[in-house]
Amino acid sequence: MNKKILVTGATGYIGSHTLVDLIEQGYEAVSLDNESNSSKDVLDAVKEITGYRCPHHTVDLCDYNDTREVFLQHGEIKGIIHFAALKAVGESVGQPLRYYENNLVSLLNILKLSQEFNVEAFVFSSSCTVYGDVSTSPVDENTPWQEAASPYGQTKQMGEKIIENVIPTTNIKAINLRYFNPAGAHPCGLIGESPRNAPQNLVPVITETAIGKRKDMTVFGDDYSTRDGSCIRDYIHVCDLAHAHTLALDYIFSKKQNKPVEVFNLGIGDGLSVLEIIRTFEEVTGESLNYRIGPRRPGDVVAIFSNYEKAKKELGWSPQYNVKDIMKTAWIWEKNRQKLLNI
Ligand code: UD1
Repeated sequence: MNKKILVTGATGYIGSHTLVDLIEQGYEAVSLDNESNSSKDVLDAVKEITGYRCPHHTVDLCDYNDTREVFLQHGEIKGIIHFAALKAVGESVGQPLRYYENNLVSLLNILKLSQEFNVEAFVFSSSCTVYGDVSTSPVDENTPWQEAASPYGQTKQMGEKIIENVIPTTNIKAINLRYFNPAGAHPCGLIGESPRNAPQNLVPVITETAIGKRKDMTVFGDDYSTRDGSCIRDYIHVCDLAHAHTLALDYIFSKKQNKPVEVFNLGIGDGLSVLEIIRTFEEVTGESLNYRIGPRRPGDVVAIFSNYEKAKKELGWSPQYNVKDIMKTAWIWEKNRQKLLNI
């Protein structure tokens, strides 16, 4: 019998790509999302890709009783992938209380229920943001944390700490996956990043500008101490990232994990600047982007990219897509999105 996995934040960007990967790899996925920044309509596309319609629950994880109902209905949930969270760095600086409450209360609720309902595997959506404003890259999992640069980053640091403290007192095994910068879309062009709110991450801002949904875009600072003055990040294709979640579950279910909690970096292992990303987009698509240089964005770190050797060695994971694939698939998605979602 296929193992049942509850995916929180399933109708969001990484969540929906992970549903596809889980189903394709033989897991039975259950979707849960409060749809505050996504729509369950994405499950139609997931069905079109995989042939399977996931059961879905429109539930806010901060509501303990509603979330408990989902566990009661499904029984036998063997694994959780916990994506659901607010995730905009800049926004979190202006709304810290909302970020702390949402990201931490939801985590506490899902952990309590995982314990009560004997979940075996818990995969947490963490972020390279936990490293803070590091002075050198690549960073590996042992790189000491600096003060997180934003309340969003604080919630991810606290989330990992909570998991580190709680999990050893339970029968659950947990994996914290530290994503670098997820971007791109499924190559079939049916799913991609499609938030209800205006996207704030670089790649969707680029594609929305190129298609004319935005008049122009701003590069947040060109006076950093980097090779061209703009910030450096490690952009990782969302399908590569999605697959890592399936491998993390496999790792726990096949009893390869000895420690209660493991941590893995997921990036491509190389840093690109904002201006390099813009140039790659222009080169790959032939579009010319209307951008201007603006001030720095509060909460941004200067430069960070990953060492992902541990994920390669332990999980057998390595990225299959490069930055050009990221730009190509993001652009295909942006063009399709206009047609599919009629926006
Ligand atoms: C941050 C986290 C990342 C997390 C993501 C979730 C860090 C180092 N990284 O990504 O782990 O997954 O939030 O949202 O904390 N930019 C522009 N113009 C724009 C938009 C972005 O110049 O209109 C620049 C930003 O200043 C940044 C880069 O593009 O230098 C990437 O920004 P973004 O895509 O928002 O991701 P991060 O903030 O790096």
